[in-house]
Amino acid sequence: MMWTTDQEDRYEMASSKQDKYLLVAAIDFGTTYSGYAFSTRYDFQRDPTNTFLKQWVDPTSSMMNNKTSTCILFTKKKKFSKFGFEAEAKYLDLILDKDHMNWYFFRRFKMSLYDVQSTDEEVYLEDETGKPMAALIVFTESLKYLIDSLLNDARKQQSEIHLQDIKWILTVPAIWSDPAKAFMRKAAVGAGIDTEMLTIALEPEAAAMYVKHIPLERSVDGKTGDVFQTFSAGSKYIVVDAGGGTIDITAHQVMEDGNVKELIKATGGDWGGTRVDGEYIDLIKCLIGRTATDDLNQNAPNVFFEACREFESAKRTIKPKSDITFNVRIPSDIGETYTRTHSGKNLKSVEYVTTKRKKQFKISFIGDKLRLASSDAEKFFAKSVKKITKHLKKVFKQKDGRGISTIILVGGYAESLILMEGIKSSFPHMRTIIPQGAAWSVLRGAVIFGHDPSLIRQRRSKYSYGIDVFEKFNPAKHDENRKYEKDGEIRCGKIFSKLVEVDQTVTVGEYQGEGVYTLHAFGTKGDVKLYSSTEMNPQYVDDENCFFIGYILKPGHSFLLNEDIVIKMCFGETEIEFNAHQPKSQKTAKYYLGQN
Ligand SMILES: Nc1ncnc2c1ncn2[C@@H]1O[C@H](COP(=O)(O)OP(=O)(O)OP(=O)(O)O)[C@@H](O)[C@H]1O
Ligand SMILES: *[C@@H]1O[C@H](CO)[C@@H](O)[C@H](O)[C@H]1NC(C)=O
Ligand SMILES: [Mg+2]
Repeated sequence: MMWTTDQEDRYEMASSKQDKYLLVAAIDFGTTYSGYAFSTRYDFQRDPTNTFLKQWVDPTSSMMNNKTSTCILFTKKKKFSKFGFEAEAKYLDLILDKDHMNWYFFRRFKMSLYDVQSTDEEVYLEDETGKPMAALIVFTESLKYLIDSLLNDARKQQSEIHLQDIKWILTVPAIWSDPAKAFMRKAAVGAGIDTEMLTIALEPEAAAMYVKHIPLERSVDGKTGDVFQTFSAGSKYIVVDAGGGTIDITAHQVMEDGNVKELIKATGGDWGGTRVDGEYIDLIKCLIGRTATDDLNQNAPNVFFEACREFESAKRTIKPKSDITFNVRIPSDIGETYTRTHSGKNLKSVEYVTTKRKKQFKISFIGDKLRLASSDAEKFFAKSVKKITKHLKKVFKQKDGRGISTIILVGGYAESLILMEGIKSSFPHMRTIIPQGAAWSVLRGAVIFGHDPSLIRQRRSKYSYGIDVFEKFNPAKHDENRKYEKDGEIRCGKIFSKLVEVDQTVTVGEYQGEGVYTLHAFGTKGDVKLYSSTEMNPQYVDDENCFFIGYILKPGHSFLLNEDIVIKMCFGETEIEFNAHQPKSQKTAKYYLGQN
């Protein structure tokens, strides 16, 4: 095996096709809320933050919103029916008509991609009543709806706009695995976007873009000079995108030229805003007990969905150390089921509830509302806030995390006063910036990123990447159990031949790792197996924490056997390209992580 690296050879990933765009369109497909925004080249030149932001009306409350809820409804025949608030309203209607059981209703399904580790994996989702559907269909149909709606709006402004004039930005959590990002690309392509016109962008980075471009006079929580200082050369900042599903963390250092480099690889976890809802639903379940919960799950599972909806708006009123009682409406089915399963007892006679986490709540009722002392309501946030602050502490202690002076807090959950207070009190010496409109800063930033993607110059690889190879058996190095004989040679198989190491600094747009390999036989599913690992030096591809990603060469390729194949890696703005070249046959194949 030969190893070389080639740092001089600059590599252009952006296709010229993308450079001719007229409009940048960004879609933020969130766990709880989704939306889109766009701006033309001309708009951007005049004011980078001047974007068209789609307004959504919630038919149940007539309220306007900058994002709609991430819900999709399919008919009994699995045909797309509605998306967003409209899907929610229609589904509630179906419930009232007792006709919902055979429809397919999905919500909060983005999290199903959170731990996808292989591009081969087929993901299925269960709808609200437990019926399965392929995840790819659910994501594709959702994106199709958003794309069509966006095109409609764009054509109202500029009737001559065509699909090929649009550069698309689709945002995903930075902590997602490559196969999860690849899945989103597949869904977007399935929904009609030309893969060459699509860029997958990372949510916290998009948000950072937005904050960087906020006009200084526009108010942010924090002093106005803060933004200016945060983006001055040498400064280090951390972006915390607190969404409904994930808390997505990335840290940057501003370089002399104003561009930034990634300080640490993206981290985070699934402790987003829906965890708070989870704690509340747990309280309800403990309040009514096992029998009533099972009864509702069986006969009216949507009651919990309705309870969640009520809590979604009620929880926004929870403030730290407030003396105002917290009220939340609970669906009447809950009380009725309780009475039926508790020999006529009234739910309103219950005074204390202990939840699964052994937290005690003193409750009371007024009308159809449940009441809690504000200090009790704060408990719903405790676990999530603790997870977030604990994680941040860990990041600040890392070698590369020292010297970070600013926390940029974005995402809808950033608007929670409990989370804000939790972070400010845990890190009193940090500057905290919470932009106005934290919930849609990802969306607006993604549009800016589409026009000017050059912000990030250096990244830290999130994984080690390697190829599955065999070597001549070497007892000093190899595991005796893996010894086998083939073609008259004693070999050791399944060796992880590393191209790039986890946490390695990589320059965007340049070749990083290079390896030379030869094929000895054609595989049926493809050749050159690519693996990723969270370990620095995995030895074998079946080690713990190693994951198969996919085949770099597709079946039917015409690369020659027993001739050198040079594999190179290039980190694009957000995706990775693997380039296989065989000098002898002059064949080249490309494999995009995020495009397969
Ligand atoms: N004032 C508030 N108080 C508490 N939680 C809030 C508040 N405003 C919004 N949230 C919560 O923030 C979450 C939505 O945030 P956001 O729109 O950023 O998420 P998302 O983009 O759908 O999710 P993700 O980015 O994880 O995919 C929801 O869980 C919502 O309940
Ligand atoms: C939507 O975003 C704009 C711009 O950030 C803001 O002025 C407006 O208040 C937002 N609308 C709603 C309903 O929150
Ligand atoms: Mg989000």
